[in-house]
Amino acid sequence: MRLLPSLLVAGIGASAFVLAEQQPLGGAHVEAVNTHAPSTPSYRDDLLALHKGLIETSSQSGAEGNVGDWLIDYLHRRQYKTFKQQVATRDNTGKNGRFNVIAWIDGGEDDEGDNGDGDDTLAALTVHPLPPVLITSHIDVVPPHIPYSIDDDTPTDSTVIHGRGSVDAKGSVAAQITALEELRAQDVVGAGDVLLVYVVGEEDSGDGMKAFSELFHSYFPTWFTAAIFGEPTDNKLACGHKGILGCTVSATGKAGHSGYPWLGKSANDALVRGLVALIDADLGSSAIFGNTTVNLGLISGGVAANVIPAAAEAKMAVRVALGPQATGHDEVRSRMEAALASVDKDLTLSCSQGYGVVECDCSVEGFANITVNYGTDVPNLAGDHTRYLYGPGDILVAHGDKEALTVASLEKAVVDFQKLIKHALKRD
Ligand SMILES: *[C@@H]1O[C@H](CO)[C@@H](O)[C@H](O)[C@H]1NC(C)=O
Ligand SMILES: *[C@@H]1O[C@H](CO)[C@@H](O)[C@H](O)[C@H]1NC(C)=O
Repeated sequence: MRLLPSLLVAGIGASAFVLAEQQPLGGAHVEAVNTHAPSTPSYRDDLLALHKGLIETSSQSGAEGNVGDWLIDYLHRRQYKTFKQQVATRDNTGKNGRFNVIAWIDGGEDDEGDNGDGDDTLAALTVHPLPPVLITSHIDVVPPHIPYSIDDDTPTDSTVIHGRGSVDAKGSVAAQITALEELRAQDVVGAGDVLLVYVVGEEDSGDGMKAFSELFHSYFPTWFTAAIFGEPTDNKLACGHKGILGCTVSATGKAGHSGYPWLGKSANDALVRGLVALIDADLGSSAIFGNTTVNLGLISGGVAANVIPAAAEAKMAVRVALGPQATGHDEVRSRMEAALASVDKDLTLSCSQGYGVVECDCSVEGFANITVNYGTDVPNLAGDHTRYLYGPGDILVAHGDKEALTVASLEKAVVDFQKLIKHALKRD
């Protein structure tokens, strides 16, 4: 889940996204005898080991290569074929490259193009038509790093697991893969049914999912019927999330001596009045998504207390409650322009490209539903597929210093992802 999508980065200051080094700690896979109580699912140890390995391997946005390699190794050991889709490296990182992990169940087709180190070719996938169902989440996390820890040596349902990414979104990644392994073991799902895609860059620019969308639309004549996105939804099925618009309001004035305000024009005064008008304006609401909200994140103006300010500006993140996805944000921008124009002609609004509300299918038997206020990769995957958004963990702890979830939440997600995969494949 992303609090500030990339389209805001330029406007709000890329320096907010500090990339720090982390130590990769390899992830030994522990095959333990199941000594738990009868209610304990047989996959608990595997699930927790996968979750732990993902969290312990560094992957802040922009530097996801280590966790990509870790995940590919994990999937190879379970008879998946994988393809590394390289995604452009940013200036301040780049030691290990960064790539989306694309994986599919090995159907035993010939191994042409498989060099055994995570570089199967897409041609190997096209032996079959594109699988109908996409299962996806992201492997990048926000800074700062928070080490993995688990509260009990012998975990129970209520045991809490802490660490950066434990919720957002490595909990989803671990639960999705475990759910798929369960369905494979039951022979409900096999080769050709699903494609796994674990993207980079979701937490800032969405560049991973955009690159995947572009590549696959150019490569395959058909498209997925459904896509299951893993993000923390508190184990509920999301009906959708708000749209986003990143905007800057600029005020221009005329400098002068503060003792003679009538000889100049205060950009700060104009900006303050304009912002009050914006806060009070009706920027649109809907029954499902509530009100459009404005976060005035950064305000600056003027040069000194005794100089009439000639320039001022404010940067804001607007959470759009109007649809449709393609144009809902345009209506919000028009309302913002009208509110500012009613106050002062020297106020200008400039906004990044955004999107209106993003709707997902939340009417699946057996699921409670929820709507969320954060951004996701859902709008970055073009296509007319049915969209599902679900994952373990509480959205409210996701980017905080207490990011954590319970074993029960992870395990409920394994059960629910199995339901969703079967539902999407029409096998329920
Ligand atoms: C939406 O805004 C209206 C008008 O300001 C307010 O009365 C209402 O409580 C708000 N709704 C929510 C869900 O915040
Ligand atoms: C969401 O859940 C509420 C409460 O259970 C229910 O009334 C509503 O129909 C659900 N929405 C959808 C789209 O399934």
